[in-house]
Amino acid sequence: MNRISLTIYLAVFWLLTESSGAETVMFSTKLIHRFSEEVKALGVSKNRNATSWPAKKSFEYYQVLLSSDVQKQKMKTGPQFQMLFPSQGSKTMSLGNDFGWLHYTWIDIGTPNVSFLVALDAGSDLLWIPCDCVRCAPLSASYYNSLDRNLNEYSPSASSTSKHLSCSHRLCDLGTSCQNPKQPCPYTIDYYTENTSSSGLLVEDILHLISGGDNALKNSVQASVIIGCGMKQSGGYLDGVAPDGLIGLGLGEISVPSLLAKAGLIRNSFSMCFDEDDSGRIFFGDQGPATQQSTSFLASNGKYITYIIGVETCCIGSSCLKQTIFKAIVDSGSSFTFLPKDIYETIAAEFDRQVNDTITSFEGYPWKYCYKSSSQRLPKLPSVKLMFPQNNSFVANNPVFVIYGTPVGFP
Ligand SMILES: *[C@@H]1O[C@H](CO)[C@@H](O)[C@H](O)[C@H]1NC(C)=O
Ligand SMILES: *[C@@H]1O[C@H](CO)[C@@H](O)[C@H](O)[C@H]1NC(C)=O
Ligand SMILES: *[C@@H]1O[C@H](CO)[C@@H](O)[C@H](O)[C@H]1NC(C)=O
Ligand SMILES: *[C@@H]1O[C@H](CO)[C@@H](O)[C@H](O)[C@H]1NC(C)=O
Ligand SMILES: *[C@@H]1O[C@H](CO)[C@@H](O)[C@H](O)[C@H]1NC(C)=O
Repeated sequence: MNRISLTIYLAVFWLLTESSGAETVMFSTKLIHRFSEEVKALGVSKNRNATSWPAKKSFEYYQVLLSSDVQKQKMKTGPQFQMLFPSQGSKTMSLGNDFGWLHYTWIDIGTPNVSFLVALDAGSDLLWIPCDCVRCAPLSASYYNSLDRNLNEYSPSASSTSKHLSCSHRLCDLGTSCQNPKQPCPYTIDYYTENTSSSGLLVEDILHLISGGDNALKNSVQASVIIGCGMKQSGGYLDGVAPDGLIGLGLGEISVPSLLAKAGLIRNSFSMCFDEDDSGRIFFGDQGPATQQSTSFLASNGKYITYIIGVETCCIGSSCLKQTIFKAIVDSGSSFTFLPKDIYETIAAEFDRQVNDTITSFEGYPWKYCYKSSSQRLPKLPSVKLMFPQNNSFVANNPVFVIYGTPVGFP
């Protein structure tokens, strides 16, 4: 007989105060700008009925979504750039704690092509993959709970389309440290997470994509991109986060969206949508429907270096709090939302007031605002909404982090 009963622990907003005097506050959230229901409604009214709508998350489902997008954009703006997605499909996935709660997608690189399960990171620019490994995370499927195949390692010498980027290349940041301008360009990237980095050499190779252009036919597109041959990783990248590399989706010239746009393949934009179950999809060149809410990115010291947004106020339920103005970075490469300490306290206190449940502390978890619950008795959760200029708003899809556990002392 199964005697395990589930208990849900709710932890609201994990706060980390900043360790250094960094100016902006790290913040990440789900970028949901289009639910399938909206597009589904469009499909039903036009040429499909509800029963012919493809099964959710099937390949056809994404194809239909994509062609609806393209249709809409055509109506909006006339001649179109195409949209591109990875050759294995636009699908993204989250493998939970096993992979640091980030979102991932499969990409194919090189000739012959090799597949990589890369983390999607809007907070950085470079695409890097484990390569000629000196110090890489484990790549064997047996090391992970959620993988059914081994992860791959890239080697420039095994790909006929690979070539080293030289130290004299415009995009070689560390070029001045090279002894010879013809040497392969080295790179080192340090990430927000303490002691977490990737380093190695920059190469150019082919990223295999599919065009979701005007016709329903899939056309394969080979795009030349710059790739970090990640020979040495450290910190989180040796320890379960991005073991098979990371795709930087930032504003920098070296990021995949920037390179695709510069090559004239897409508009300089991309979309990521994540569903309730943490599945999702990514499209390069997508600008989303005109009806979606939006807010402008903000410059930092006159430059647009990363996706900084300005929150004007936070609303908990119907209560919009004073003095909850802050700037934040939109970063799909962070698992949690981080807020400035005083704003966190204000929001959490109001949230706690509205939850109408008692805070319970749980050993081993770093959260202050935890509530014990069961399937019979769920706490009343208020909505959490961020307000932007001109009344644009973003509702946090699921503001609580649910931990399933067995009650302590239960055999
Ligand atoms: C809806 O589509 C299905 C499958 O294409 C078809 O069998 C059915 O007759 C359609 N129903 C209506 C009301 O058009
Ligand atoms: C990748 O390689 C496999 C095996 O050679 C081939 O079947 C597949 O079509 C290739 N994929 C792409 C996107 O080129
Ligand atoms: C980062 O590295 C430094 C120096 O090796 C060490 O003192 C520190 O504890 C490390 N931090 C973490 C979070 O591992
Ligand atoms: C809060 O909880 C108390 C005790 O469980 C209950 O009497 C009260 O109606 C609740 N208030 C709201 C607003 O749900
Ligand atoms: C925003 O909404 C509020 C309340 O609905 C309204 O009073 C205000 O005029 C709106 N502001 C703008 C810029 O639309």
